[in-house]
Amino acid sequence: GAEMLTDTFGRRHSYLRISLTERCNLRCLYCMPEEGVDLTPSQKLMSTEEVVRVARLFAAAGVDKIRLTGGEPTLRSDLVELTARLATLPGVKDVGLTSNGLTLGRKLPALKEAGLSLLNISMDTLRAPRFTAMTRRQGHDRVLASIHKAVELGYDPVKVNVVVMRGVNDDEVPAFVELTRDSPINVRFIEYMPFDGNVWSDSKMVPYRDMLGTVEARFGDLERCADPRGEVAKNFRVPGFRGTVSFITSMTKAFCSDCNRLRIMADGNLKVCLFGANEVSLRDAMREGATDGDLRAIVSAAVDRKRAAHAGMFELAATANRAMVKIGG
Ligand code: GTP
Ligand code: 5AD
Ligand code: SF4
Repeated sequence: GAEMLTDTFGRRHSYLRISLTERCNLRCLYCMPEEGVDLTPSQKLMSTEEVVRVARLFAAAGVDKIRLTGGEPTLRSDLVELTARLATLPGVKDVGLTSNGLTLGRKLPALKEAGLSLLNISMDTLRAPRFTAMTRRQGHDRVLASIHKAVELGYDPVKVNVVVMRGVNDDEVPAFVELTRDSPINVRFIEYMPFDGNVWSDSKMVPYRDMLGTVEARFGDLERCADPRGEVAKNFRVPGFRGTVSFITSMTKAFCSDCNRLRIMADGNLKVCLFGANEVSLRDAMREGATDGDLRAIVSAAVDRKRAAHAGMFELAATANRAMVKIGG
């Protein structure tokens, strides 16, 4: 029943994020250290069948939205099959994907056909040389092409995630807003968050208030749009523009009290909060022969351990967690 996914603060979790791989074809500064991270051996990652089993269990308990993440989820060879199988689970209304866009373009028609309904693409700069600096890899043109392809295929909106880092890409905020003039694009400016290995400091984090000020100085007062329940962004529009502009304010204005998210990592660990090291292995339980009832008890106990809110940005920067690439956002 629904109580498996309801925590001690009455929050009902209807949104499951599943990380499908720890691998990535980029090396973004804010996501992982230059040398990469230790990868979990492939036999310890969740198999296709294990992912479907877990997703079915969560859907039966009230999850209606599943988002596939990574690492970079398009590196997982069963992505299209998984999308199709998850999209047809009873109770599931939406299957989304968060991708860096590098090799997404050519897979998009098949993903759409399989039932992918929500698409978020990460792109932190509009300049190719800066892309190479921020991601430590090439391929900016391919990311742009994926965004265009997504628009062409009718994704509306196509969400473009921009992690804003002071002195790195914060001068591009107005240029990103321009993308929303004629396209069904939702540009989302994200406050830089601390994770293991990403050398976060508060001086590199641009508070949402500052970003909003920059946008309004250039485009005039923004229209405030509705924020659908359970979404992490505050939504705005430049009057008359086709697309929208949003801010994800994890650091300066946390939204934990409305949290409706749970996460399964590629190695099968359930993580009840983006922050903190409190995890439990569903993979081990499944491989030791757990019944669905056993799994439900494990999930329920973990959800009950979920805290009211994250600890605040300075505490987070000092708390052990995974590298972002091993969480998936
Ligand atoms: P929608 O389905 O479009 O709402 O996607 P999303 O915003 O949930 O997912 P996405 O993968 O695009 O993540 C966008 C940003 O929001 C990333 O920086 C995530 O790390 C951040 N984010 C996602 N979920 C949470 C959360 O539960 N808490 C916090 N603080 N940040 C989150
Ligand atoms: N702070 C904020 N957002 C981040 N992302 C990755 N690392 C960070 C960070 N340190 C974003 C990615 C992607 C989403 C899943 O999370 O850019 O869009
Ligand atoms: Fe890869 Fe995404 Fe991390 Fe960048 S943010 S290194 S694209 S997983």
